[in-house]
Amino acid sequence: MNISQQQSLLHFNSFALDVKAQQLVTFSSQAQLSEFSLTEGVPYFIIAGGSNLLFCEDFKGVLLKPEFTGKTVVDAGDAWLITVGAGENWHQFVTWCLAQGYPGLENLALIPGCVGATPVQNIGAYGVEIKDFVEQVNAYDLINKQWRQMSRDECEFGYRDSIFKHALKDSHLIVEVTFRLPKQWQPVTSYGDLKSLPDSATADDIFNLVCQVRSQKLPDPNELGNAGSFFKNPQVPEAQAQALAIAYPDMPIYDTAIAGQKKLAAGWLIDQCGLKGRKVGGAQVHQQQALVLVNTGTASAKDVVELAWLVRTSVAERFGVLLEHEVRFIGAQGETNLDEMMLQFEQQALASEA
Ligand code: EPU
Repeated sequence: MNISQQQSLLHFNSFALDVKAQQLVTFSSQAQLSEFSLTEGVPYFIIAGGSNLLFCEDFKGVLLKPEFTGKTVVDAGDAWLITVGAGENWHQFVTWCLAQGYPGLENLALIPGCVGATPVQNIGAYGVEIKDFVEQVNAYDLINKQWRQMSRDECEFGYRDSIFKHALKDSHLIVEVTFRLPKQWQPVTSYGDLKSLPDSATADDIFNLVCQVRSQKLPDPNELGNAGSFFKNPQVPEAQAQALAIAYPDMPIYDTAIAGQKKLAAGWLIDQCGLKGRKVGGAQVHQQQALVLVNTGTASAKDVVELAWLVRTSVAERFGVLLEHEVRFIGAQGETNLDEMMLQFEQQALASEA
């Protein structure tokens, strides 16, 4: 266990915002976690790769960072069961699986972050979600100091969603994840850019194309701070989607698993508002993909929050659709949201004028 005080988070958040945490505690073994106790009244938050977070201000509490590594493989007859430590880098893990001859995760290549965070928001891309492969999640209940093995059903996965964002929010720290990769590999090439692949495409072909498409469309966080899709693709009632399709015949509309609900493309909605390239201070709507907000190098957290507000307001006014942010907002005391942060910044501005 390593503990550091007044830790700069510059290298712990992919937005590359220069904020601080009062304390950062890293864990590299399960024994260290069992020995650890939370302090009552002191806020805490579990951080993984920091690639889906917006630190809106200095965090006045303890950040807990699992750094468990290691992989084990079990032959389960018709599938490989691969257990991997929460602190392993996700893309490196996907690459390793393919090199070892365990295909299945190739559509999820190049998603930034660590393995432990992948079940929290049920990462997804190019027609595949992590829930399709999760066998078990091994978590530690920080409140009751108990270990817990959770099945896929117990994780209550949804679109960019799981029980770890609701009933078990902040209380359960994911230690390792077991994936079931069927030996009978099924390619998924039905999504957008992957449709161009021939029927004979291998898992490596899919992996290479996904990497190519992502590198073209999405900014590399090492070069331009960002947290991937800033907003979720909104789900709307079918009647609203039909009305929008009449008004905007080019609007992409997707089916969802929920009856009577359709999904819209947030990136398209933002793009149609003419917001690509729009800046607030050092924060910018990415030129190539309107769904991503970037730090051009000098952005403050406030710039990003104000830009997100501008985007959400513009889309609501034009299309009557309220975007929800996918990126998790972290304030001084823990998780917060766009409305609360805007209110806080406005109150601070008023107080400084007075
Ligand atoms: N579009 C525009 N302009 C834009 C962006 C998109 O017109 O600036 C249009 C595209 O032409 C397309 C539609 O919007 O018709 C959807 O865009 P795209 O296929 O690029 O995917 P997305 O909906 O923007 C989602 C995920 C991504 C994932 C891709 C590929 C969400 C919120 N985002 O993006 O996930 O990589 O599909 O599967 O579901 C992430 O979560 O961080 C992420 C990058």
